[in-house]
Amino acid sequence: METSYPLHKIKVVLLENVHRRAVDLLDGEGYSVELHEGSLSEDELISIAGDAHLLGIRSKTRLTERFFEATTNLWGVGAFCIGTNQIDLIAAAQRGVVVFNAPFSNTRSVAEKVIGEIIVLHRRLFDRSSQMHAGAWKKSARGAHEIRGKTLGVVGYGRIGSQVSVLAEGMGMQVMYYDAVDVLPLGNARPAGSLEELLRESDCVTLHVPDAPTTHNMITARELSLMKPGAYLINNSRGTVVNIAHLSDALASGHVGGAAIDVFPEEPKGGEAPFETPLRGIENVILTPHIGGSTLEAQANIASEVGQKLIKLMNNGSTTTAVNLPEVDLPSLHPDHHRIIHVHRNVPGVLSAINRVTGDASINIAAQYLQSDSHHSYMIMDVDESGSENLLAGLREVGETIRARAIW
Ligand code: NAI
Repeated sequence: METSYPLHKIKVVLLENVHRRAVDLLDGEGYSVELHEGSLSEDELISIAGDAHLLGIRSKTRLTERFFEATTNLWGVGAFCIGTNQIDLIAAAQRGVVVFNAPFSNTRSVAEKVIGEIIVLHRRLFDRSSQMHAGAWKKSARGAHEIRGKTLGVVGYGRIGSQVSVLAEGMGMQVMYYDAVDVLPLGNARPAGSLEELLRESDCVTLHVPDAPTTHNMITARELSLMKPGAYLINNSRGTVVNIAHLSDALASGHVGGAAIDVFPEEPKGGEAPFETPLRGIENVILTPHIGGSTLEAQANIASEVGQKLIKLMNNGSTTTAVNLPEVDLPSLHPDHHRIIHVHRNVPGVLSAINRVTGDASINIAAQYLQSDSHHSYMIMDVDESGSENLLAGLREVGETIRARAIW
């Protein structure tokens, strides 16, 4: 079938060893995919990806305003990771470049890690293992517990917290949870009336809240003192949620029986400098370097999710789950229609200008979609084939237009 733009001319540049699944997806679509193992400097990026239609990066590539300014064809950026801090999202939006990420592809990985940690903490397995590595055979049941029948307190019952709840029940735990909003329990989990109630009743507390002003220092000396003596604390959410100095004191005093901490208030960017935390060297404390979601399966999920979003953007115009421009989820295009995509600045008067152009073009509009945020609008028109070229040319002349294209 003839398309508005030959698919092999769609240049895709993928950096930083993006998972193979994304390469296969984009390649399978007929696009020309170019791979680069590492990240690139700004100048290299401009020369290699300045004319790309789609760009895929992970966390190490910085996409600056200067880069976006230099791009000529770029419609979409896929961040094949969770965060998008490395991208100047505003500069991208100002040029109509849609940015996607995959924030939820690794939730299962986090949930499974938590389940492992619950058992390891209850059995003090890491301490036993370290002793064995040091040549000491200390066979003892002291401080070792089954998890069956114990109460797990889940703070933040969202995507990850609720999965942990289901898995923990499967292992015979009783689950109570606390969330800022009313959420329905899964299985036999029961909501706690307050965070305090959850802390008082749980044998193990696991945190799954976002980084937000209301969660900063959610767990300090006061909250730790409310926990059952010997209870465990697990944090795989965000480093700002727990006051590490207070936790270290509570562990040293023995009031908290162990902890698994994956996230820290300040995390090193690279791996060169030694990492310091007051938790180092304390018994029954599992320390991990922010790897809650880091599995190959999560990488593969991220690759599928972001890869498909880029394909849908290119072939269909949809921006569903975009992080920097309004979201539009479009149906497939009818074979007799052409789809016009028009991105413009959201200021008064643009729509009437667009209406004048469509009126003058006297073209049949089969469907129209518009989503706006406070700065930008993403507008779609499905129109009859004949005349779509004139309409596109007219729309490009409308003041406040950022860019426009047609697909069929
Ligand atoms: P989510 O948005 O699905 O769930 C968060 C839940 O916390 C929501 O139900 C929300 O209502 C609740 N919540 C928000 N503020 C609260 C408050 N003040 N008190 C009580 N509940 C509150 O998020 P998801 O996907 O489950 O992620 C949870 C956390 O895990 C996030 O901080 C995320 O950044 C982190 N994460 C960490 C990873 C790692 O590698 N360690 C990997 C993936 C996510």
